Amino acid sequence: MLVELLLFAVLVFLLWKTFRKPPGLPPGKWGLPLVGYIPWTSKSFEEQVMDLHEQYGDIFLWRMGTQLMVFIKDYKLMKEAFSRSEFTHRPNWEVLKFIEEVPHGIVSSSGIIWHNNRRFTLRQLRDLGMGKSSLVGAVQDQGLKLRETLAERAGTPGMIPHQLHLSLINVIWHMVASRQFDAEDERLHEFVKLLSEFVLLSNRLAIKDFMPWMQNVMPDFLFKRLIKYHELIDLKEKFMRYFKDETEKHKATLDPDNPRDLIDNYLLEMEAKKDDPETTCSEEDLLFIMFELFSAGSETSAYTFMWLCCYLAAHPEVQHKLHAEVDEVLPNGALPTLAEKPRMPYTEAVINEAMRACALVNFGVQHMAASDTQLGGYTIPKGAVVSSTVTSMHYDSLYWDRPKEFRPERWLDENGKFFMAKEGFLPFGVGKRVCVGESLARMELFIFTTMVFQSFSIAPAPGKSVNLTPDLRGFFFRKPVPNEFVFTVRKQ
Ligand code: HEM
Repeated sequence: MLVELLLFAVLVFLLWKTFRKPPGLPPGKWGLPLVGYIPWTSKSFEEQVMDLHEQYGDIFLWRMGTQLMVFIKDYKLMKEAFSRSEFTHRPNWEVLKFIEEVPHGIVSSSGIIWHNNRRFTLRQLRDLGMGKSSLVGAVQDQGLKLRETLAERAGTPGMIPHQLHLSLINVIWHMVASRQFDAEDERLHEFVKLLSEFVLLSNRLAIKDFMPWMQNVMPDFLFKRLIKYHELIDLKEKFMRYFKDETEKHKATLDPDNPRDLIDNYLLEMEAKKDDPETTCSEEDLLFIMFELFSAGSETSAYTFMWLCCYLAAHPEVQHKLHAEVDEVLPNGALPTLAEKPRMPYTEAVINEAMRACALVNFGVQHMAASDTQLGGYTIPKGAVVSSTVTSMHYDSLYWDRPKEFRPERWLDENGKFFMAKEGFLPFGVGKRVCVGESLARMELFIFTTMVFQSFSIAPAPGKSVNLTPDLRGFFFRKPVPNEFVFTVRKQ
């Protein structure tokens, strides 16, 4: 009997030693092996993370399935972490790498592939457009299309028109492949539909990322049905067909002395480096870079602009000041360029305040610790996934006076000049993987805001108020809920 008791005690001790939370890790929820900590609550994921910050402070961990997640809401700590090379890796998640063995492109890759693709893309974005007149012209063209659509339904209640998405996607097509689709083109509509299906379907892949063992305990066909594997493969093939077709057309018409766009430049770089053993250039990578520019660069700008419309409709006094500035700087329907930006501090302040208040990418994009390391006095083990709690930062009274109020004035100094108060502001991330499209997104938002509100005022549909509660169902975005607005034509 004594021997059995002793063996039992040893077994309990060994189990405790194996499954306990190792010392030195940040405080938080450890939970059970394989499943981690499963909360029993009807609160949204975002609310739960905010509650856990209340309980544990600026940094805490939450074991979700087999993934060790670390959440940070302290701006300085976040900046320190994401500026260090140990944290430049992405988790090897299917939801990011879109069911590829090796992650390609920029958003999902790590190491040398990421480094090379990021450098190439940043150079392209700079050379092909950001601040250059050809891209400004393309954004203005798309702003005009959006204005035409709004004019057609002026005075009638409705949602923000779908043309907003079409316009933003066309800006990226212009940069990538020197083409723009007509709003009536079926292929453009199919492409936009694929993008939104991708966001919905890819969420399913999180099951594989957080509970990979399920694949071993379930029949293969059932697991694939659960994660909608076949639909995803189909979606991926349809997407890639667009990019392959465009690449083939570019190959056939390429003039090495006159590269037209990102595809031409990548093909030339691939040719120039074909004998370089260090090159990571491949046609597959090109396709993924294109795919990621669309997936990272269209819905983000579209939702931000939709939020901006919500805030302006909810705050007529802010809209009034915006109209006054637009009318003064851009009289008689003059089209905006980036040259007007310095003279439009209130417009800049409205855009920044909308980005702060909507905290669109509420947990940023996740980074992974490439080795055991220390952060904020805690051990962060290799493989831990680090997330910034952007909503907490954007609503923290440590950084913002009366954070719940929509107040563009917080971005203006005593002389009315716009200043970029960066502390606590993280819409585009921070550090080595900060968004490569920030300047493009800012350009789109500036031109669309000035063009739309030069011509229209916005108000909630009669008898309704603006619902500013975010739709928190997706993991990556705080989307605005559908609101009905009336756009009314203004006389300048
Ligand atoms: C308002 C619009 C946008 C927002 C709020 C936004 C936000 C973000 C955030 C939070 C990240 C993650 C940074 C990190 O990993 O720490 C990111 C990365 C990225 N964004 Fe954006 N973005 C926007 C527009 C764009 C546009 C227009 C493009 C390009 C056309 C773009 C391309 C990318 C790419 C390629 C990455 C990955 C960078 C890397 O992993 O090195 N984004 N963005």
